[in-house]
Order: sequence, then structure tokens, then C-alpha cells
Amino acid sequence: MSDPRWSAVDDYIVGKLIGEDRALEAALENSRQAGLPPIDVSLAQGKLLQLLARAVAAKRILEIGTLGGYSAIALARALGDDGVLVTLELEPEYAAVARANVDHAGVGHRVDIRIGPACDTLAEMCSDGETAFDFVFIDADKDNYPAYLDYAIQLSRPGTMLVFDNVVREGEVINPQSSDPKVAGTRALYDALKDNPKIDATAIQTVGSKKWDGFLLALVQ
Ligand code: SAH
Ligand code: DHB
Ligand code: MG
Repeated sequence: MSDPRWSAVDDYIVGKLIGEDRALEAALENSRQAGLPPIDVSLAQGKLLQLLARAVAAKRILEIGTLGGYSAIALARALGDDGVLVTLELEPEYAAVARANVDHAGVGHRVDIRIGPACDTLAEMCSDGETAFDFVFIDADKDNYPAYLDYAIQLSRPGTMLVFDNVVREGEVINPQSSDPKVAGTRALYDALKDNPKIDATAIQTVGSKKWDGFLLALVQ
């Protein structure tokens, strides 16, 4: 399901509120040439992430799922030069593209890309006593969303904001019979948050160039 007006309105929003962004355009172009899948957040969505990270005055941001570093650039821009974005990526080839893209965007000095299965990296971060993060963006393999929630909470402080991407999945999220493990993982995330006293959360549906999907926003108590 998709309506051409969704992308047209996205273009309107970008034209009025965001404008051209050479670094992000170059990152997208470089990622496509390197053969990475076109599943980055949109320009308007990246700006939303950046504004949210600024609103909580984030100095330490964790991202799970780097791809080519598009959302990483948006998030790293929310930081001052004393801030850090730690971003986790399974694929070494994607991480190399992301490294080039964040460097080209002029924010590379704030970005720490860690390669490997995120659950392993996160377990290591927890046992190493990594300092808490102020903002966490979760956008990697959806079947691990419940595990990422647990790790994100462990790596948080009261007031940390968590944002999960792709939590509506063109409405499939309400289909308990879905055979798609991405849907099952997303539903397990909602189940883990239902009546969870540690987290206050909502989800917002979105349409636009990324079709019909949504973000789940949560504050750690
Ligand atoms: N946040 C990015 C898009 C991420 S796409 C952006 O908006 O620009 C999801 C990414 O998660 C892909 O790059 C994929 O390789 C990565 N990924 C998938 N499974 C993973 C895992 N187990 N550990 C870490 N990264 C994983
Ligand atoms: C997919 C992953 C994403 O994070 C996204 O925003 C869109 C699509 C995917 O795996 O197809
Ligand atoms: Mg996503």
C-alpha cells in the first residue's frame, strides 16, 4: 500500500523545513553505489531523530543498525564535539561505507562504529560497564527488538529516550498470524512494553517516502 501523495508531501516538508543537504545526499549516493539496501530513514525522519536527541540534550547516543551511516550523520549532528555516537553494525562492508560517509559529513570524530552481531557487542558493553547513554535509536534486525530493549534499558539512566524504527510495518503489526519474523519480533517488543513499569511509551504511525510505518518512543523511568 502506497499513495504518491505521501512522497509528494515529504518533498514539501523537506522543501519548507529542511532544505538540501549535500552530506546526506552524498551518503545516500555512496551507499547506493556500494550496493547497500535502500532502507535508510528518510530526510524528514532523520531530522526528527536529530531534534529528539537535541531535545534531551544527548551527549551519548547509541544506535543499533548503522547501514551506510545516514541516520548516524543525522544523530551525530545533534551532538557537540564532546559528544559520542556509538553505532553497531553486523556487516563489515556496510560499516566501511558508513565510516567513509560519516567522515565525509564532517562528524566522523564523534562516531564510533562497532562491528559484529549487536547482541554480542551489547553484552560486552554491559559487562565492560559502559557509561549510560542519553538516547538510543534501534533500527537493526527486528526479530531481536525484545533483546535490544533489554540491553538498551541496561545501558540507560532514568530519562534516557529510546526510539525504535519500523514498528507498524504497513499495518502487519496487528496480525498475530503473520509468518514474518520481523512482525513477530516487533509484536514481542510491544508485549515486553505492555504494563512495563520501567518504561513509558507510545508509537506514532507515519506515511511518507518510507511508506506506512512508524516509530515507537519510550522514556526509561
Ligand atoms: N539506521 C540506518 C538503517 C539501518 S538498516 C539508517 O537509517 O541509515 C538495518 C541495519 O542493521 C543493516 O545495516 C543491517 O546489516 C544491520 N543489522 C542486521 N542485523 C544485525 C545484527 N544482528 N547486529 C547488528 N546489525 C545488524
Ligand atoms: C527494512 C529495514 C529497515 O530498518 C527499514 O527502515 C526499512 C526496511 C528491511 O529490512 O527491509
Ligand atoms: Mg529502519
